[in-house]
Amino acid sequence: MTGQATLDRVVATHPAAAPTLQVDDLSVVFHGAAGQVIAIDRMTLTVQPGEFVAIVGPSGCGKSTLLRVASGLAPAHSGNIRVNGAVVDGPPPGVGFMFQRDTLLPWATVRQNIAVGCELSGLAPSKHAARIDELIDLVHLQGFHHHYPAALSGGMRQRVSLARLLAYEPDVYLMDEPFGALDYQTKIVMGRELLRIWEAHRKSIVFVTHDIEEAVALADRVVVMSPRPGRIVAEHVIDLPRPRDPRTLRGDVRFGAYCRDIWAALAIDER
Ligand SMILES: Nc1ncnc2c1ncn2[C@@H]1O[C@H](COP(=O)(O)OP(=O)(O)OP(=O)(O)O)[C@@H](O)[C@H]1O
Ligand SMILES: [Mg+2]
Repeated sequence: MTGQATLDRVVATHPAAAPTLQVDDLSVVFHGAAGQVIAIDRMTLTVQPGEFVAIVGPSGCGKSTLLRVASGLAPAHSGNIRVNGAVVDGPPPGVGFMFQRDTLLPWATVRQNIAVGCELSGLAPSKHAARIDELIDLVHLQGFHHHYPAALSGGMRQRVSLARLLAYEPDVYLMDEPFGALDYQTKIVMGRELLRIWEAHRKSIVFVTHDIEEAVALADRVVVMSPRPGRIVAEHVIDLPRPRDPRTLRGDVRFGAYCRDIWAALAIDER
């Protein structure tokens, strides 16, 4: 390939100004037994390359639906989502997902599950073993290489899922309450690990959570959604210095102020 042809291809696949994720006037409607449900109502959101965006909102407001449309697993009713400039109409390349419930292959060991990520990344097979070792160390699962998911705790399974996602090395990480099922300490440790990795590689992350403190500790920007039909009702830029350590941030005065503001924006009625 000539130098010019290579350049043309690079420009075509990475338009200079394209945001990593562009949600444009998106509406999502489901037709179920109970009739029509508007899950998302004319939502617009931009995630820039390298940005860490957290999304919070009441249960049922369309957070998972948004990630499902972005990952090509559910269709838009109107509007669209672009990933790296291309409209999503099926699973887009370069997008990795992590769901609240792990989606590990039950018949595969920890190593084999992480190997799936290596295969998707296009890493040379000769380099898989070393990369898997590195990731197992990173998520602190030394000694569990040959265990099957059924023999791991929920937190350990989520760490394998994270290692598999990291092995894939996507351009954008779509994470749907990835640490929601973990105990408090493991959740904080996983958040710290995720930040460490993100700070080193600066890939875009969209991170859905119900935990306002987790959102503020991790993200550059926290987007608040309304109750269904989901719309964006507030956005808070989190101007806390990096690198951050989620273990110590909780005592910070500004951290507390951001959490209070976001809680107020959520405007969840007291029941
Ligand atoms: N496949 C589907 N068919 C019909 N309705 C659906 C479907 N998926 C989601 N919904 C509806 O869309 C709305 C948004 O659901 P979604 O799962 O996106 O909410 P969420 O914000 O992720 O909630 P939670 O915080 O509880 O995970 C809900 O009312 C839900 O019942
Ligand atoms: Mg959800």
